[in-house]
Amino acid sequence: MSVTPLMTLSVQRIRLKRALSKFHDTLFGQRRKYLRYYASEQWNSRRGAMEWLSVRFHYALDRVSGRVPPKSGDAYLTHMPVLLALGRSLEVKRVLELGCGRFSTLTFMDRDHFPVLERLDSVENDKDWAAQVVALSGDDGRLNMHVVEGAVAESLSGFDLDTYDLIFIDDALTRDERVRTIRTVGAALPKHAIVVIHDYDMLVYRKAARCFRHRYRFTALYPNTGIAWNEPRFQPDRIETVDRWLHQARRDGRVPGDPDEAAAYFKTGVGDAIAG
Ligand SMILES: C[S@@+](CC[C@H](N)C(=O)[O-])C[C@H]1O[C@@H](n2cnc3c(N)ncnc32)[C@H](O)[C@@H]1O
Repeated sequence: MSVTPLMTLSVQRIRLKRALSKFHDTLFGQRRKYLRYYASEQWNSRRGAMEWLSVRFHYALDRVSGRVPPKSGDAYLTHMPVLLALGRSLEVKRVLELGCGRFSTLTFMDRDHFPVLERLDSVENDKDWAAQVVALSGDDGRLNMHVVEGAVAESLSGFDLDTYDLIFIDDALTRDERVRTIRTVGAALPKHAIVVIHDYDMLVYRKAARCFRHRYRFTALYPNTGIAWNEPRFQPDRIETVDRWLHQARRDGRVPGDPDEAAAYFKTGVGDAIAG
């Protein structure tokens, strides 16, 4: 059967209708959430209300355009493909990690993926959590865990950000604290480091990262991961390749839901995607 222009037009109309309906549902579908916000202090100021609407609007646009796909099995590890790709593409000797954990810290320490890592400075403000992560890392002298009091952003003046090849931002249990971390790192204008920001689908984090000269948003997995840099020679093409590969893998249902299986899948897949 041949495809007539009328049929093509009908398919496009159906797609547009679906996209508009998804957009509408995302924007207006969560009535309970709306009511909570109406009752909250944010609505007492016009600016707060506009900011909230802007966040919802961008989120709805992201959902329709596929930049925010369905949430991944374990939201904690969606940064992993980006870290693996950077470990393969760059000579990463020194890393500053803000917010430790079994996914990021252990990935940096893994010599298969970060073969030339000499030093990992990890800054953490939850001392019990830091102790658990140190125990998981074994007795590896390359890991220097800095347990700090209060917000991570406040401790950053003690580090020379220009001495790192990669700075990873995944700290804090509140948005405001993470925003402060991103702004503090950005304000230091690191010349050399590639900065990786987890949960980059959040509009407030993307706004906070605007002080970096270059940015790329990795959208294959949700939560998204961003990279930001000032270094003029850095090309994000390998990250883009990995993003494209994962978009396809996700559409084909090949990304495992189980976190450990997903981690293993990323570890082999990223290498293959980069090798082409
Ligand atoms: C998103 S988590 C960091 C995850 C870490 N970067 C990783 O990739 O595994 C952010 C913060 O939550 C706090 N936290 C407390 N308990 C935690 C837990 N069980 N798992 C992960 N983070 C925890 C820590 O202060 C941590 O820095």
